[in-house]
Amino acid sequence: MPDHEIYPPHPDSRTCHVGTYRRVLPVSLERMYENTLDWEHLPYVHAASFKAIQRIDAGSWGWRAETTSARGEVSIIELRLDRACRRWITRTLEGTNAGSEIWTHAFSIEQRRVDIVVDFFVPGVAVSARQKVGKAFAALYESLYDEDVAMMTERQRQLDARSETDQQASLQEGRVALGLRTDLALPMQVESGGRPYVIAEVDGELYAYSALCPHLLGPLHTATPVRGLVTCPWHGYQFDVTDGSCTSGHNCRLPVPPRVAQDDAGRVFLEVSSR
Ligand code: FES
Ligand SMILES: [Fe+2]
Repeated sequence: MPDHEIYPPHPDSRTCHVGTYRRVLPVSLERMYENTLDWEHLPYVHAASFKAIQRIDAGSWGWRAETTSARGEVSIIELRLDRACRRWITRTLEGTNAGSEIWTHAFSIEQRRVDIVVDFFVPGVAVSARQKVGKAFAALYESLYDEDVAMMTERQRQLDARSETDQQASLQEGRVALGLRTDLALPMQVESGGRPYVIAEVDGELYAYSALCPHLLGPLHTATPVRGLVTCPWHGYQFDVTDGSCTSGHNCRLPVPPRVAQDDAGRVFLEVSSR
């Protein structure tokens, strides 16, 4: 079976079913549920589709939020997760496409392979137009899941790497030579004690900070710090790389990094303390 399939709308003219999208994703059901409940990533990971999101309510049941699409359309969207039925229903309560429902069923076929079946229901669409509308929804979901898979697989990779590092010895005391400061292409990524860090220059000083976001292990190394502030590409949390504090008001901070030192000859070192 191909990994992607698009089915035509239901032929029964009494339903408002406009189409189905089906795909096998290389992730666990746990990552899928996590992604489903994660309302915050929409304007960051799916910036081509969403400009902003304001949470109205959220919990283990799902979430309700006001979304602004990339075209500026405002909607109230509610997602309800039903774990017992391995499905979630996304309803547009108000705004563009109000009354539409997207039912997603997820079937775990291996530990890290999930078969998803997404049904699109849009009221008020003429039977003759359903196929076209269904195809547009399927194309949108194809690109949304491309973006989600990239995030979910990267998070899984970091979780796996973290548990391996935790099983090995923790950071060892010592100095890691990085080279002459004049030769360093900053910001640069380095590894120390099995953990990735970024070295960046802020106001003439060098700082090391975690390449992984403390929220959900987002890739901070892919974001360039601006005036000492780095913004995570997954949910927009922002951190001051000089002291690790979170400047976007979220309750987290960067872990304590190794210190960056420079000797009289201009050689740069990471100074690693034992822990
Ligand atoms: S992983 Fe969520 S803000 Fe970085
Ligand atoms: Fe997503």
